[in-house]
Amino acid sequence: MGFYSQDLLEEIRSRSDIVDVISGYVRLQKKGSNYVGVCPFHNDRNPSMSVNQPRQIYHCFSCGAGGDVYKFVMEYENLTFPEAVKVLADRAGVELPEQEFSKEARQQADLKAQIMEMNRLAAKYYYYTLRQPAGKTGLDYLLGRQLSQETIRKFGLGYADKYSTSLYQYLKSKGYSDQLLKESGLMQVDEKRGMYDKFWNRVIFPIMDIHNRVIGFGGRVMGDGKPKYLNSPETRVFDKSRNLYGLNLARLSRKPNIILCEGYMDVIAMHQAGFSQAVASLGTAFTAQQSVILKRYTGEVLLTYDSDEAGVRAALRAIPILKEAGLAAKIINMEPYKDPDEFIKAEGAENFQKRIDEAESSFFFELRMLERQYDFREPESKTAFFRALSEKLLEFEQGIERNNYIEAAAAKYHLTGEQLKRMVDQTGERLGGLQRTPAPANPSASRKKKTEDGGLRSQRLLITWMSSGERMLRNICRYVEPEEFTDPLCRRVAELLAEQQALGRLNPAALFQQFTEEEEQQKVSAMFHGTIPDLSGREEEERALQETILRVKQGSIRWQTEHMDPNNAEMLRKIVQRRREIEKLHISLD
Ligand code: CTP
Ligand code: MN
Repeated sequence: MGFYSQDLLEEIRSRSDIVDVISGYVRLQKKGSNYVGVCPFHNDRNPSMSVNQPRQIYHCFSCGAGGDVYKFVMEYENLTFPEAVKVLADRAGVELPEQEFSKEARQQADLKAQIMEMNRLAAKYYYYTLRQPAGKTGLDYLLGRQLSQETIRKFGLGYADKYSTSLYQYLKSKGYSDQLLKESGLMQVDEKRGMYDKFWNRVIFPIMDIHNRVIGFGGRVMGDGKPKYLNSPETRVFDKSRNLYGLNLARLSRKPNIILCEGYMDVIAMHQAGFSQAVASLGTAFTAQQSVILKRYTGEVLLTYDSDEAGVRAALRAIPILKEAGLAAKIINMEPYKDPDEFIKAEGAENFQKRIDEAESSFFFELRMLERQYDFREPESKTAFFRALSEKLLEFEQGIERNNYIEAAAAKYHLTGEQLKRMVDQTGERLGGLQRTPAPANPSASRKKKTEDGGLRSQRLLITWMSSGERMLRNICRYVEPEEFTDPLCRRVAELLAEQQALGRLNPAALFQQFTEEEEQQKVSAMFHGTIPDLSGREEEERALQETILRVKQGSIRWQTEHMDPNNAEMLRKIVQRRREIEKLHISLD
């Protein structure tokens, strides 16, 4: 961004109708005032992506992907912004001015983009080195681990040679300063030696985000040296808790599940064997953020952690995290092999598929691990086990789900459902007596949380309304100031919409360029795709809008009251006045 003028970008946009453009990639069907289609950004068969022609934006209700026409092309074709501009300009027959990537322009581009670019260059450099005579050791190692040339290419594997400043010198020759190189995570600095490469004499695994941008690296020794793996540190572009190795490929695999494992080599071996839905967490424990990300693409996660104690512990930790995100979890048994890579090497893809088909539901896996702690020949220990089992069953909400699990567990331990149910009820009573279902520690806190959520909903709804048409925007701007939105994102969107209204042209799609974070873009596209209650007639419209505006204003006053200095008399006076104003508020639309 920053290379083309805003006018030019708008010119291209106006000639690139979003419905036309997306239809070139995805079959769209008209439905009401929107178009719908199968979202290409997650694994789905249902039409969960909606394209809104008046606003020129798209949004997927399932995975959250969304944005304007530029964003769609960037995501679909894995392009940078300037590249997407070029594609759309060509398509629309708009001529682009010659670009000069001057030093100044490069310096202006933000740090993130520069780190991404350094990573990309480094990945290319390692990839190239692997194919040089100096890279033979690396290539032999990878081939020796039975990776095909095709697989090596697909994962962009590379090699860092045995000199410790090769990459440093290469990137210096491209004009990067020591300061930037330090930020990239590709270098190490110490007082004696100065700056040198983090990775040398290792095979290199580039780590990519879902848009195929290189965000970091893993490097493995070619033998038994220590440490076995080195990984890039976290940088401005590399957040280990929010990325998964292989997700860029797995998300497009169109498989009914995702396989979660521990290692780079496991992911690669599984993909090579046709299990292209495999991903790995990045040398750290599986996180809640990662589970939320997986939920965008699938409903079921199969765990193939190492079959040692550490692997079992990791699986037991991951299960509740997955459940919390609403994912079903199953465990693949790899015995007698250590990990998927070794399993596949020894038994092949067909047998691995069998293990997938036989995967154990997380509940039974947890039970088996629980069993191990008790001795069933000891009546006391056995009773203690059933008590623990009952407690576990109490975790399920009462109702069909709990009953189903009670039936299943009863069958497993040769009890009748009635017997186990009685045990569960007794345990429930006993626990209930000691520790009643925890009431919210502070009841007003939970009520407060509810009004806050409600407030956010009203703010988002009002944004939906504001973006629905110029007349509506003009009307709303007469009654509401952007500062009255307490949610920072809503406030920014409201400011931008108000600016557009002042300039006399509503253009929701153009506003996406103001947001650089994926998460923000998704939230904004969701707001623009919110549903406005079906209203017939101006009177109903006025009433509904009045209510929403009122809620937004009340929320803003509440916020001010809570955050003000109680000694500030002037502020207090203002708040009282605002309260009076909203009592008199009467929305009339023109
Ligand atoms: N790992 C790491 N640092 C280490 C060891 C492991 O970051 N010193 C991470 C790597 O992401 C690795 C994963 O943990 O892929 C699993 O480690 P391990 O099971 O030891 O390695 P494998 O994946 O089995 O690798 P290989 O088959 O090459 O031995
Ligand atoms: Mn392994």
